[in-house]
Amino acid sequence: MENTLLLQGMGYAEDNYLNDDASHLIVDKQLIPTLMDLNGKRIIDFGCGMGGMTLWYASKWDCEIYGVDIDSHHINVAKELKRKHGVQNVQFEKRNIVDDPLEGKFDYIFLNDVVEHIREDYLVNIFQQLSKALTPDGGIFVSYPPWKSPYASHLNHVIKIPWVQFLPTSTVDGLIDKNDHPIVGDLESTLRESYEGLNHMTHKKLMGVIEQTTLTEDYRKSHTILNRVTPFKKTNFRVFPLNYLITKEFILLKNK
Ligand SMILES: C[S@@+](CC[C@H](N)C(=O)[O-])C[C@H]1O[C@@H](n2cnc3c(N)ncnc32)[C@H](O)[C@@H]1O
Repeated sequence: MENTLLLQGMGYAEDNYLNDDASHLIVDKQLIPTLMDLNGKRIIDFGCGMGGMTLWYASKWDCEIYGVDIDSHHINVAKELKRKHGVQNVQFEKRNIVDDPLEGKFDYIFLNDVVEHIREDYLVNIFQQLSKALTPDGGIFVSYPPWKSPYASHLNHVIKIPWVQFLPTSTVDGLIDKNDHPIVGDLESTLRESYEGLNHMTHKKLMGVIEQTTLTEDYRKSHTILNRVTPFKKTNFRVFPLNYLITKEFILLKNK
């Protein structure tokens, strides 16, 4: 990986680690501590990417955490960031858990912004493996922007048009061509590859995947900007057209 990209990746991941207002993880960082206490827990951060969130979990709680990702460039950045900040209670590993299953049991497994990047048929294999790695009371916490979300295209940092994914394909293609650039990743290494890798995830699709495993939904929160208004703090706006305002879904899964 080029040094410029390594530094760029470290800057991005460091912001996700240290900045509690980092845009795509802001609600995750507010919600997770209200739902669980990770002290003394063994944790997997599945699809940890460049490790920003993994280091955040490791620093916030006295836990033992493993960041696992299939992309060697992402793991390289994560290892550099761990070294730079001297965080001890975290290990990063490049691993394909379908070919090489996890060993041991874990109290919590996190997938922050991962499920929308993996083909649905392959996601079934992944959740089957993850469910086997849970302790009896363990939980899998999933967060992702559903496809109708204003930011689901993952293009908004360069193409500042909410819901851009619903413009005609030729328009989206042209906008991507104009803004395409290399990104950190040995599997998806351009903006276009990252956009084309999205599976257009919805709650219905995700539950279709989960039904094929031993897992079941224990908790769901659909976050919209309207939740910032005090009387609506806990309301889930899931009815059309308000469902287009959902920026993130948060799901806790447990074994049946
Ligand atoms: C958008 S990134 C999210 C990274 C991180 N969780 C975060 O919130 O910043 C999605 C990650 O999922 C990883 N991923 C995709 N397929 C995977 C697989 N089969 N096994 C492990 N990781 C995978 C990608 O390599 C990428 O790092």
